Amino acid sequence: KPPPPPEDGYFDDDVDNEKNRIQKMSSDTLASQNLVLNGVTKYYGNFLAVNQVSLCVQENECFGLLGVNGAGKTTTFKMMTGDERITYGSAYIKGMSLESEMNQIYQDIGYCPQFDALLDDLTGRETLYIFCLLRGVRRARINRIIEDLAKSFGFKKHLDKPTMTYSGGNKRKLSTAIAVIGSPSVIYLDEPTTGMDPAARRQLWNMVCRIRDSGKSIVLTSHSMEECEALCTRLAIMVNGEFKCIGSTQHLKNKFSKGLILKIKVRRAPEQFRPSLRSSRSGRGDLSPTHVKMQQDIISVKEFVERMFPQAILQEEYQGILTFYIPLSSIKWSSIFGLMEKNRDFLNIEDYSISQTTLEEIFLEFAKYQREDPRTLK
Ligand SMILES: Nc1ncnc2c1ncn2[C@@H]1O[C@H](COP(=O)(O)OP(=O)(O)OP(=O)(O)O)[C@@H](O)[C@H]1O
Ligand SMILES: [Mg+2]
Repeated sequence: KPPPPPEDGYFDDDVDNEKNRIQKMSSDTLASQNLVLNGVTKYYGNFLAVNQVSLCVQENECFGLLGVNGAGKTTTFKMMTGDERITYGSAYIKGMSLESEMNQIYQDIGYCPQFDALLDDLTGRETLYIFCLLRGVRRARINRIIEDLAKSFGFKKHLDKPTMTYSGGNKRKLSTAIAVIGSPSVIYLDEPTTGMDPAARRQLWNMVCRIRDSGKSIVLTSHSMEECEALCTRLAIMVNGEFKCIGSTQHLKNKFSKGLILKIKVRRAPEQFRPSLRSSRSGRGDLSPTHVKMQQDIISVKEFVERMFPQAILQEEYQGILTFYIPLSSIKWSSIFGLMEKNRDFLNIEDYSISQTTLEEIFLEFAKYQREDPRTLK
């Protein structure tokens, strides 16, 4: 049975182009690509977990897979690593088919699973040693490689402790290190930085960038938009097992961003308006001159924005900071800057910024179509 069309009825031309490009790929081109998925689909019984995903990941590319819980990211990974059978469609690593040539493919892929699959009683060093042997690293080089990995990923202190004593973040570091042993061409990282502290996260990001730029292909999932923006050359948002959009972050922002965010900070009242300690204790706090002056300024700013950008919507007002959402229209960035610069002193504006909608807003827009997980409904 062919998988049904998307429930929300939304087809994206970029997703379609990627699909068509892959369908038309000659076997020579296919053989030169690190990773190709062609209409990959997964049914768990009657439940459609991944719906016709097509994707080509090249060298020097870090591809981000975004999606809410249950969207089908881990299932896609499991098919790409041969852990789960592909129900329909085909997938290739350097032209080798995942269906028939899995034995060779294992040498070319590394996998950091979402849930650490470590042997509790082994130390970090022993674990890495075993994976080096499995991946055919020459014995003479193994010790050096273990030291380098532990240093690069930041768990050197813990190398000789059993992995069951590792903290969550350190387990993720070890699991990611395992994925890169033997220098595979394609590396899958399923939420590698979950539970890592900010410094460890930055360190891992540096490593991922280095690996990416050395010519590897990385596929990454993450719930951090910041991480995706930092690492991914392209990304896709997955909803109900389907890709809803695909492209670089800038491309997605240009395509789906529906407006601009204008933030204005009103300057605090100057000294002569500030109440003395005594008068602020007099119980008339709300009516202090500072407060009155600031309220007046805020009203002037609001009137100004209303007049200049009639479609603007006030989203938030907090401590003299006003956030307006301006729906996309014919207004140019430059004319907004021009207007603001001209009026900032007159309006007593301390600071302002104009920005695009964020990746997170685009993500949330798609994510609302995700249906309930059938397993949690039972
Ligand atoms: N072995 C299985 N049998 C049946 N259903 C499954 C199985 N594994 C996953 N699913 C279902 O498939 C869907 C996709 O799950 P998957 O783990 O791929 O999501 P995910 O995008 O990785 O989510 P998360 O962000 O929470 O990791 C979910 O509805 C899940 O319940
Ligand atoms: Mg997952």
